[in-house]
Amino acid sequence: QTGKFTYDPGFLSTASCNSTITYIDGDKGELLYRGYPIEQLATNCDFLETCYLLLKGELPNAAQKQDFVGRVTNHTMVNEQMQFFLRGFRRDAHPMAVLTGLVGALSAFYHDSTDINNPQHREIAAIRLIAKLPTLVAMAYKYTVGQPYVYPKNDLGYTANFMRMMFATPCEEYVPNEVLVRAMDRIFILHADHEQNASTSTVRLCGSSGTNPFAAIAAGVACLWGPAHGGANEAALNMLEDIQRNGGVEKIGEFIKQVKDKNSSVKLMGFGHRVYKNYDPRAKLMRETCHEVLNALGLHDDPLFKLAMALEKIALEDDYFVSRKLYPNVDFYSGIVQRAVGIPVSLFTAIFALARTVGWIAQLNEMIGDPEYKIGRPRQLFVGSERRDVTPMAQR
Ligand code: SDX
Repeated sequence: QTGKFTYDPGFLSTASCNSTITYIDGDKGELLYRGYPIEQLATNCDFLETCYLLLKGELPNAAQKQDFVGRVTNHTMVNEQMQFFLRGFRRDAHPMAVLTGLVGALSAFYHDSTDINNPQHREIAAIRLIAKLPTLVAMAYKYTVGQPYVYPKNDLGYTANFMRMMFATPCEEYVPNEVLVRAMDRIFILHADHEQNASTSTVRLCGSSGTNPFAAIAAGVACLWGPAHGGANEAALNMLEDIQRNGGVEKIGEFIKQVKDKNSSVKLMGFGHRVYKNYDPRAKLMRETCHEVLNALGLHDDPLFKLAMALEKIALEDDYFVSRKLYPNVDFYSGIVQRAVGIPVSLFTAIFALARTVGWIAQLNEMIGDPEYKIGRPRQLFVGSERRDVTPMAQR
């Protein structure tokens, strides 16, 4: 087709597939994983139970959970050669640049899980990716801070193991704090899947060519990095710190004025969503987690949390935001929680990628498992030049 076409974001949001994994009602602010409300999963389950649910469609019983946890635990180490790949990066590389490279590089080591059309390969690739992402994220972090990376310790739970790999050093053991581990595990649950968002659609489109699962997930990591998507939690915390540096709560009015100024590109990061035109249910759970963590750490007077809540209150009463249905999304409070847990802001999006890996895998497997699937091929409406002949150079 040809004709006048102005870019319409809705054009790219038309239904791209059927799915049984995650349901979002953007008007009600509802999120279900395989039919279970996110509020109940975040309260009653842990991340690996949620991984099992997303992958298999049902919550595990005790025996199934024990078997699944055992299989994931057996794959937490990465091939020792990967540290030499890591050393090729500059020390000041962004952790997402390192993670994009490391995840793609997994396809060079695990040849018995690279055939995306082989169900056994897909099964072991899923276990390996879920098991190794925490190790890779911690390796990327340790590399950028100049510390030796810490091997996984498999007598710890999944999330405690990750936090130990992040914070232990050869000189000092890390003793996991139960409240912080539970908060981190909940952050993983809240970020695990979110139907056909930009990075999930990227993974589906990439995987539809028949490439290996590691390459498809690496494409999702690259897409998630963007500030309009997974990079928003890093941008939201940087925004809060900027406001705090420039006067804090007293100066919120000036900041809001900048956001509302048609000529300014300043956005209230962590607000707004392509689907939620109501409060993102994950943001509510993240704010509660914030309270728990800050109280546990004796930081209930944390200035950034107070600033975030003041900003939210003003925005929810301001017509600019109300009329555009802009509410806090998952990224608005997650940065404050992660900062309180001790995660550096440069790692926030890598943590998001760690958690979202299971959702990407579940969505990829759902597509590949459908006998009707074919390689993706989005179409366009051509609005360029009509047919014309080449003008000789002398006449150009
Ligand atoms: C994630 O898709 C997913 O599910 C993603 C995600 C997931 O789990 O995978 O939920 C994770 O990516 C959450 C979103 C994180 N991104 C941010 O917080 C970045 C800041 N948000 C904006 O970039 C924006 O809200 C989007 C991109 C998230 C959504 O944009 P929309 O819904 O397409 O809205 P829009 O760009 O069409 O804007 C509508 C109006 C515009 O104003 P007008 O042109 O009508 O005057 O709202 C304004 C926008 O300028 N607007 C904002 C705003 N977001 C939209 N104004 C100020 N601050 C904002 N954050």
